[in-house]
Amino acid sequence: MTQAGQLLAAGISAQGPILFSRFMDVALYDPEHGYYRRARREQGADPFGVHGDFYTATQLQPVFGRLIAAQCAQWRRQLGAGDEFHVVEWGAGRGEMAEHLQAFQYCAVDVDGGTPPAEFEGVVFCNELFDALPVDAVRVRRGEARMMRVDHHNGRFVWIEGEPLTGPWLPYATKLSARVAELREEEEVWLELPVHLQSLLERMTQPLTRGFVLAIDYGYTEREIIRFPRGTLMAYRRHQALDDVLLNPGEQDITAHVPFTHLEHCAQSLGLVTAPLCSLTQLLMSAGEHDQFAAALEASDEASSLQLRMQLKSLLFGLGETFRCLVMERRRE
Ligand SMILES: C[S@@+](CC[C@H](N)C(=O)[O-])C[C@H]1O[C@@H](n2cnc3c(N)ncnc32)[C@H](O)[C@@H]1O
Repeated sequence: MTQAGQLLAAGISAQGPILFSRFMDVALYDPEHGYYRRARREQGADPFGVHGDFYTATQLQPVFGRLIAAQCAQWRRQLGAGDEFHVVEWGAGRGEMAEHLQAFQYCAVDVDGGTPPAEFEGVVFCNELFDALPVDAVRVRRGEARMMRVDHHNGRFVWIEGEPLTGPWLPYATKLSARVAELREEEEVWLELPVHLQSLLERMTQPLTRGFVLAIDYGYTEREIIRFPRGTLMAYRRHQALDDVLLNPGEQDITAHVPFTHLEHCAQSLGLVTAPLCSLTQLLMSAGEHDQFAAALEASDEASSLQLRMQLKSLLFGLGETFRCLVMERRRE
């Protein structure tokens, strides 16, 4: 069993079956054995890129970084801001964006460090942060929503049905599951509860006095939930998507699609003004259109020029259609 697995099994044996958010938190972020924590210490445990488990748009450098920098520069001009314009990146991972955001006061934040300024004007940026946040799992059957817990039997982690869902998440689960049931004849519906989204967004945006928040991720709107009657939990290992999120904790990534309608509500409740959700392709097209992508594609020789054009193509026609962008604005009171 993995070391994170041993930790989880010991916790379950002492206190009983655990909520999925606890399982995901230990599997990904245990300071010693969590998937993202190990990656920063152990050689060969890096989850990103060709030898890892997945690619993100951030690995398509320099084109992605240059276009995000162009978008930030556009916002700086729009606000008439000067040199004290900050870009704070949350969930910065390997820090590949740093080089491209040097024209701003740049700060990278991740679970192991990075301190944003106490107050700033500028941009809060995150790419694939929210899909990596621990969520709870709920199963709705014949109109009754119950928490799903994780137990440990014969060396394996297994799902078991827990207590009925009560409290503030009940209307959320009822509304979404009713939507699925109304349009599909599903016996049961699985859903995730994004229990940490609001508090993280609040931490990220509290110091922002004026400016924009750009969240890039994959996910669904309330209307699109119909596509996911079994929920959206997914594990990734060696570029393969796996359904069993309970296998090998600490050694595979676990993600949940981002519920964008809920993210919009969280943003609005924090006083942010949300723009209509758009695709990453739309955002990058708008960031590159002023010079027809000339700066993003600037290269010193033909081989690198070809590589940059391939990156742009992957961003606009591959990842760009899968990923969505939510832009949220903090206006001056
Ligand atoms: C899927 S990775 C994306 C990394 C990078 N943004 C990219 O696009 O390659 C998610 C990152 O979010 C970080 N993360 C998760 N929860 C966080 C939190 N509460 N605060 C800051 N970073 C967090 C993880 O440690 C991880 O580096």
